[in-house]
Amino acid sequence: MLLKNFFKKLGFIIVAITVASVIYYCKNKKSEFYSPIILATHTNGEHFVGSDTCVQCHLDIYTTHVETAHFNTSGIANSNNIKGSFLEHSNVLDLDQVLFTMEAKNNLFYQNTRIKNRSTEIAPEKLDVVIGSGVRGQSYGTWKESALFQLQTSYYTPSNSWVLSPGYPNYYDDPRPLRDACLKCHTTFAKGLDENTSGNLFNRDQIIYGIDCERCHNTAAKHVAFHNENPDVKEAQFMIDIQSLSRQQRLDVCAQCHSGKRELILKGDSFSFVTGEKLSDYSRNARPLSKDEILDVHGNQYGLLIESECFKKSEHLDCNTCHNSHSNERGKSEIFNLKCIACHINEKLDCNASDAEIGKMNNNCIACHMPLNASNSMTVQLSEKDSEETSFYIRTHLIDIYPNVKKQ
Ligand code: HEC
Ligand code: HEC
Ligand code: HEC
Ligand code: HEC
Ligand code: HEC
Ligand code: HEC
Ligand code: HEC
Repeated sequence: MLLKNFFKKLGFIIVAITVASVIYYCKNKKSEFYSPIILATHTNGEHFVGSDTCVQCHLDIYTTHVETAHFNTSGIANSNNIKGSFLEHSNVLDLDQVLFTMEAKNNLFYQNTRIKNRSTEIAPEKLDVVIGSGVRGQSYGTWKESALFQLQTSYYTPSNSWVLSPGYPNYYDDPRPLRDACLKCHTTFAKGLDENTSGNLFNRDQIIYGIDCERCHNTAAKHVAFHNENPDVKEAQFMIDIQSLSRQQRLDVCAQCHSGKRELILKGDSFSFVTGEKLSDYSRNARPLSKDEILDVHGNQYGLLIESECFKKSEHLDCNTCHNSHSNERGKSEIFNLKCIACHINEKLDCNASDAEIGKMNNNCIACHMPLNASNSMTVQLSEKDSEETSFYIRTHLIDIYPNVKKQ
């Protein structure tokens, strides 16, 4: 009798456990069924999964995206992404008081330093992190445990040579902290180690190099998991639709990195702002933009564009009117000219310069109306023998009439 009761109870318990497990399994099926590998976790608790997970469903965008300056703007140093040369004679930066020699050894890369007329030994410093895709140049970071520092040598593309990093003196100086202020615009995400997020201490496993999909489209773990589990759903879930955002929200996606340094953080940290929010709640520039702003490599395309008549007198013009964020269109002036002509097609809005003048510039609207300017603040000290300082050329985003532009 006792035994019968026991089996009855046992049977009941087994059934109960089975039912509970089935319910539990069904409820949690989604997250158990597919979970992409998490690369890092944003301070808002959402997870980054990286563009490799997008390939499967957005192959066309992925393929062109990996060719962009954005995607390649930072990375772990390797023989593919370091543009500077390690070959004898091309691997030196010879300054007044110091000689730097760049050395490649077993697929690792070093800056060797010799202070002239002194016997001080300086240990070789390793190139660990590359900043800059190399359109104009690159800087290099070196780790000392969890602290990131900038090396004194940089690479300058126009002269294809090693140069002094901007702002460094031409004698040997201790490596400078490479703070999150650099990484906020040159990576997708970096997790600081200390509460004071403006430092140079990072969790090295939680840095997503390059500007990847999720910097503009926000963390995508849920989107990727959902669409893997529900291949029949053709409408995007857990993903913001940038096209449906307001003009200011769309501009803010780009302005977070293209509107000057925005060194004043008002809320959160350097990485808190996400697409869809209001950028002005998070950060601003220490001083306002003036129309004749000295352009530099870290210039303010946003500030200049919104001062232009094209922007003020049209409702929808934003960065994406001219730029395709998913492909590398540098130098393809024919693509950009078509964007101008799309609006400036009717006679009222037509160019009134003479055909002969326009012809001289190969009908290239941007050559005359968005001319290149030499950057004043971003000059580069070449080697001792070639001490002339060379500057970057930056294209202005103040679309205007510049009567005296020269062909470049
Ligand atoms: C398993 C398939 C799948 C994966 C993986 C996937 N997506 Fe999607 N995604 C979709 C589908 C389906 C849509 C809706 C149809 C469309 O726009 O192509 C979509 C749409 C989008 C949209 C447009 C949203 C809109 O409403 O305009 C963005 C942006 C997007 N995905 C980004 C990403 C990113 C970033 C990744 C990788 C981190 C990713 N997706 C991975 C299936 C996927
Ligand atoms: C506010 C965002 C921002 C910050 C902060 C920032 N950068 Fe940049 N950086 C950019 C942008 C945008 C460009 C490209 C500008 C252009 O093409 O006109 C750029 C260009 C560069 C380039 C040239 C890249 C190339 O391919 O030509 C280097 C090198 C560079 N930055 C290094 C740094 C370093 C080092 C720091 C920190 C001291 C830093 N940046 C801080 C946004 C930023
Ligand atoms: C620099 C920012 C940026 C990056 C990086 C970026 N996107 Fe986009 N993406 C945008 C913007 C802006 C739009 C809206 C374009 C428009 O309004 O015409 C967009 C639109 C989309 C769309 C919907 C429209 C379409 O073209 O199908 C998809 C899907 C998408 N992106 C996927 C991706 C994927 C996948 C990656 C990475 C492989 C990626 N994006 C990287 C800015 C970005
Ligand atoms: C996370 C910061 C960040 C965001 C967000 C961002 N950019 Fe950039 N952008 C950069 C940096 C850094 C570079 C310089 C890349 C390099 O050459 O190393 C750059 C370069 C560019 C270039 C020059 C590309 C080339 O081939 O030289 C264009 C054009 C551009 N960005 C447009 C945009 C537009 C449009 C958006 C918004 C949809 C946007 N960016 C969003 C940081 C950003
Ligand atoms: C979205 C539409 C649009 C696009 C794209 C556009 N513009 Fe404009 N542009 C306008 C409007 C609207 C005006 C103001 C016309 C007026 O004053 O009535 C304007 C004004 C101008 C002016 C006169 C500026 C002044 O200060 O008087 C020039 C020059 C110009 N655009 C050149 C260009 C060039 C070059 C491009 C391509 C790089 C371009 N625009 C792209 C809409 C556009
Ligand atoms: C009316 C068209 C137009 C609009 C709108 C526009 N751009 Fe550009 N942008 C251009 C052209 C043209 C170039 C030069 C491209 C080249 O030389 O390959 C350019 C170049 C750039 C570069 C590289 C600058 C350099 O000198 O290397 C950056 C960065 C950039 N744009 C960012 C932006 C951002 C951010 C916005 C929105 C605030 C924006 N652009 C809006 C037309 C435009
Ligand atoms: C050789 C340089 C040059 C080229 C190339 C050029 N423009 Fe102009 N554009 C000018 C000058 C100079 C003016 C002012 C003419 C005047 O007021 O006499 C002007 C005026 C304009 C205006 C203002 C017209 C008005 O009524 O105020 C617009 C809009 C414009 N250009 C658009 C364009 C577009 C679009 C292209 C490309 C298809 C283009 N321009 C190519 C030099 C040029």
